Amino acid sequence: MLLLIGLSHPRRREFLGFVVLDLVRAVALPGYLLGDYAKSWQEDTDFLEELRAVSPHEDRSAERKFFLRSLAGLVAHLPGDTAEAGTFEGASSWFICRALQNTGKTHHAFDSFEGLSTPTPEDAEYWRKGELRAREETVRELLSPFDTQVHKGWIPKCFEAATIDRLCFAHIDVDLYEPTLQSMEFFYPLVVQGGIIVCDDYGSALCPGATQALDEFVAGRPEKLVHAPTGQAFLVKQ
Ligand SMILES: C[S@@+](CC[C@H](N)C(=O)[O-])C[C@H]1O[C@@H](n2cnc3c(N)ncnc32)[C@H](O)[C@@H]1O
Repeated sequence: MLLLIGLSHPRRREFLGFVVLDLVRAVALPGYLLGDYAKSWQEDTDFLEELRAVSPHEDRSAERKFFLRSLAGLVAHLPGDTAEAGTFEGASSWFICRALQNTGKTHHAFDSFEGLSTPTPEDAEYWRKGELRAREETVRELLSPFDTQVHKGWIPKCFEAATIDRLCFAHIDVDLYEPTLQSMEFFYPLVVQGGIIVCDDYGSALCPGATQALDEFVAGRPEKLVHAPTGQAFLVKQ
């Protein structure tokens, strides 16, 4: 009876499901932290509708897309354009553009559209050249509602033809050491004071090269990295 009264509220019933999920987790993945129950971002219907529209088959990066969108919203008042190194099918670029819609900014999207470049020893052994390949046309179509320039080519070569005066926001999501470092070297001097650079891969154990590249880049510079529990890291340009 007490159990029935206790489960009368929908949240309490749902919480019971969460407890079961956590028990399964404790057996299947003992070292993994599931985090807390009832996070309000998971009930943000506007965000969820947009996520399903731009990325219908991919839920695992949802929290990172949500956080990226929140960070991009902070720079609307700053001068400068936006950029992303590593667009894949364009979902994260879409959220950057959406967060800054009608602010007069141009978004620059950089990708090989041939997948990852060759990993180096810093990247350990998980990734293979050519993985995560997307079609340029997919990205152009998805980003067509926004003022966007898509730059196809290998980083850092593809940066050469881009005409960017200054940036207020840059997102780096190329998984590997060399293109992460090269993207930081290109974006950082262009970012205005108060602008933000986000690295998607910093906190992923699958991307040790990206972590190393960021740590090396910020060493000796005034900015500090904020390592978010989503796995992203960002800095605010001083
Ligand atoms: C993880 S995916 C990007 C995901 C995307 N930002 C999103 O969240 O929707 C990594 C992308 O980096 C690109 N990439 C990796 N190394 C590159 C390089 N050296 N030059 C250009 N693009 C590269 C790949 O083609 C791939 O599309």
